Amino acid sequence: MNANPTVAVIGGSGLYSLLDGARETDVQTPYGPPSDAITIGEVAGRQVAFLPRHGRDHRHPPHLIPYRANLWALRSLGVRQILAPCAVGGLRPDLGPGTFVLPDQLIDRTSGRERTFVESGAVHVTFADPYCPAGRATVQATAQQTGVAVEPGGTMVVIDGPRFSTRAESRWYAACGGTVINMTGAPEAALARELALCYTSIALVTDHDAGVDGDHGVTQDEVFRVFKDNTERMRALLLAAIADLPADRNCPCPAALDGMRTGYDLS
Ligand code: ADE
Repeated sequence: MNANPTVAVIGGSGLYSLLDGARETDVQTPYGPPSDAITIGEVAGRQVAFLPRHGRDHRHPPHLIPYRANLWALRSLGVRQILAPCAVGGLRPDLGPGTFVLPDQLIDRTSGRERTFVESGAVHVTFADPYCPAGRATVQATAQQTGVAVEPGGTMVVIDGPRFSTRAESRWYAACGGTVINMTGAPEAALARELALCYTSIALVTDHDAGVDGDHGVTQDEVFRVFKDNTERMRALLLAAIADLPADRNCPCPAALDGMRTGYDLS
């Protein structure tokens, strides 16, 4: 069996561990250390890496997560397919707490983050479809087979945070076509593409964003509480999806950098 992990899960708020009996590995990268030690364990005969995006003690706020180090560290271990669970706010009234969404589009409203590996030359990756189509199809099929309801598409708006949105901002994001909103989906997805990785976001709605409900603003307490209440559902979906992920990557992701001189070493 391959000793290197080819699949990784980047855990979001409330998901700080995934694999029982996993071994820990510290990885250094040209971009500094990742958010925390990476744990590696076996799921359905595959080696799987787990990295808590915020650190296991949630020490990294969303705008200060070492996104480049995280993606680089996972790739250097051999990872090529990433499942990325995250907490999101619903921008539509019908998307209430506990709903799973598989975003297929992204609006990046962040600024000031280290958002690229490119430091020289012409390296312009295609990002029209920011998520791996095979990964999304797999998670959707897994969810269907295991009786988990998922919203099969949607646009994820990513804001800097750490504060939540005002009601006016929230209504504007919804009017712009946003389906859900969070603080970590960018630049993570774009950095994954720059490393030719498959990246699939699995969003769990923890709240209605401020512009939807009108009666109360989003609170950190409710986000953490709802995510915690749904951790086991998310864990079960992740483990089942990992078992179903195709071992061969027949999607466009591996060819993302074909013909480009990246200036960074992808060997
Ligand atoms: N993460 C979870 N809920 C959120 C919200 N309403 N806005 C931004 N990020 C979130």
